[in-house]
Amino acid sequence: MSVAPRSGDPKVTVPEILARKLGSQGSVLAHRKITCLTAYDYPGARLLDEAGVDLILVGDSVGMAMLGYDSTLPVTLEDMLHHVRAVRRGTTRALLVADMPYGSYHVSLEESVRNAVRLVKEGGAEAVKVEGGERRIELIARLADAEIPVMGHVGLTPQSINAMGGFHVQGKSTEASRQIERDARAAESAGAFAVVLESIPRELAARVTERLRIPTIGIGAGPDCDGQILVYNDLLGLSFGHVPKFARRYANLSEIISKAVTAYCEDVRGGLFPSDAESYHAPSAIPLESLVRNPR
Ligand code: KIV
Repeated sequence: MSVAPRSGDPKVTVPEILARKLGSQGSVLAHRKITCLTAYDYPGARLLDEAGVDLILVGDSVGMAMLGYDSTLPVTLEDMLHHVRAVRRGTTRALLVADMPYGSYHVSLEESVRNAVRLVKEGGAEAVKVEGGERRIELIARLADAEIPVMGHVGLTPQSINAMGGFHVQGKSTEASRQIERDARAAESAGAFAVVLESIPRELAARVTERLRIPTIGIGAGPDCDGQILVYNDLLGLSFGHVPKFARRYANLSEIISKAVTAYCEDVRGGLFPSDAESYHAPSAIPLESLVRNPR
């Protein structure tokens, strides 16, 4: 599996992502915002990579975006591996991060490390993401020790939907906001190279961003994070059902696809597709009768 960049742009690496925040190593890109998006398949990954996205996350949001589940909980490690491999084939420049799905890091540290190693070895991921802060200190340290870069994820953690009672904005009370800050700091001190802040007040995200040495990647966390991430389907207007207010839609692919498919059906029914120009023709040297009598 090659990770050599297709274009002249340099490959995005974990040290490069860190350098964006720290402004170290004379990086010309220091302090430039980190652009991140989810992807789940080869064409999506290619388009994102060629458009210059810095970090591609194969999120467990694949469960809702691509597999028709109503939460991320049913997504398995095998599901993730299938999608990570496809995205790997379409990604050369961006840093490729894979979500660890629910259940793959909740039983024992040993099993969690084994599962993360599979995402790297079999999927081609360059880093993994786990949800939680203080509760994941040991796990993040063990993964870092196994040479697997880790992204933390705090605030609204969709794998906690049952415990949280739904997808709600987090960190609205003083105690809740302190806990989110402690979680983000815990991820950093355990060795995470970045942390996702999801659905929290922008003021809290700004404070956490200012206090951490690793980059924060916001989703529903306001503009002051070091980078932003959105779900591919939300950005492109390919989502069904509720879309949160922070998910700005940059295109309406659902409408484009519906119109194209309706036009195709009409053309087939009306005998307008395929046209003669879209058909193959028998070579004039072969008499048509012999083709009809002897189809092989
Ligand atoms: O699964 C996912 O897509 C995510 C991002 C939205 C951060 O965790």
